[in-house]
Amino acid sequence: MSPLSCQHIMTMDDLMPEDITTILDTAESFKEVNERRIKKLPTLRGRTIINLFLEPSTRTRMSFEIAAKRLSADGVNMTASASATVKGESLRDTAKTLSAMACDLVVVRHKYAGAPQVLAECMDAHVINGGDGMNQHPTQALLDLFTMRQHAGRLEGLTVGIVGDICHSRVAGSLVPALNKMGARPIIIAPPTLLPARPDVLGAEVATSLDAVLPELDIVYMLRIQMERAAGMPFPSLREYARFYGMNEARLAAANPGMLVMHPGPMNRGVEVSSAVADSPRAIVLDQVNAGVAVRMAVMYLLLGGESGGAVA
Ligand code: NCD
Repeated sequence: MSPLSCQHIMTMDDLMPEDITTILDTAESFKEVNERRIKKLPTLRGRTIINLFLEPSTRTRMSFEIAAKRLSADGVNMTASASATVKGESLRDTAKTLSAMACDLVVVRHKYAGAPQVLAECMDAHVINGGDGMNQHPTQALLDLFTMRQHAGRLEGLTVGIVGDICHSRVAGSLVPALNKMGARPIIIAPPTLLPARPDVLGAEVATSLDAVLPELDIVYMLRIQMERAAGMPFPSLREYARFYGMNEARLAAANPGMLVMHPGPMNRGVEVSSAVADSPRAIVLDQVNAGVAVRMAVMYLLLGGESGGAVA
């Protein structure tokens, strides 16, 4: 029996605050394994994990693959160009096909919101959402919480400004509820054209001036402009966007001296974050990547029936 209260991790709604704490605590022990010379545990030997990535991905796909290998699972990876979806196969038929191969867990990234739910309805395997359209990206939010807790020592009471393309971002879609569940204070900061039509529904405070709220932030979380999802250019120019919403050295100097900078990657240097800031010790972007492997090991392990705390021999 999994210690988590859910079968699948499709959105942050699936996770109670206790589940999140269990995942973060379990990930701590896997992080320790990732620092060993031999980074492998026999925990998921004989279990089959399919990574079904039907949208581009570097970090997320690689870290799920590495996580599965470090737990000794049999991992199989499928990308859009290599799958029968390009021949017109429906997601339901793909799901039934994978189910017939008796896999235990499927990680899915898809351009359509709700694709993980479709898979979960058609198969017995556990499903983890690796990012569905503009909807959610729950393991990104979990690794972000892990990184924040690692650096700040707590989540409760942290003020986190999430800056940029809120309306097209699945990262914001998961991070806002994740922070709320853990007692932090999310503020979404964007030009009006990049806010959702009903920003209040997300459950965060809203600001349109980064400079006005900057001194209040413990963490600033910069988002990439999702040009591939926007209908047109949502502001006059990238230069103008960078001037008002980019994190640069002047803003870092004006911020609270301990403020940390986060980004889910891929970064567009010179747009949402300057190179000097991206490479500064205040940016903890690579710690996020590092946490991604441990957190994904934790969710795979826990969904497949592992006990909390019993992860590492
Ligand atoms: C994000 C994604 O794909 O949603 N990246 C990631 O998973 N690390 C964010 C983005 O593409 O901007």
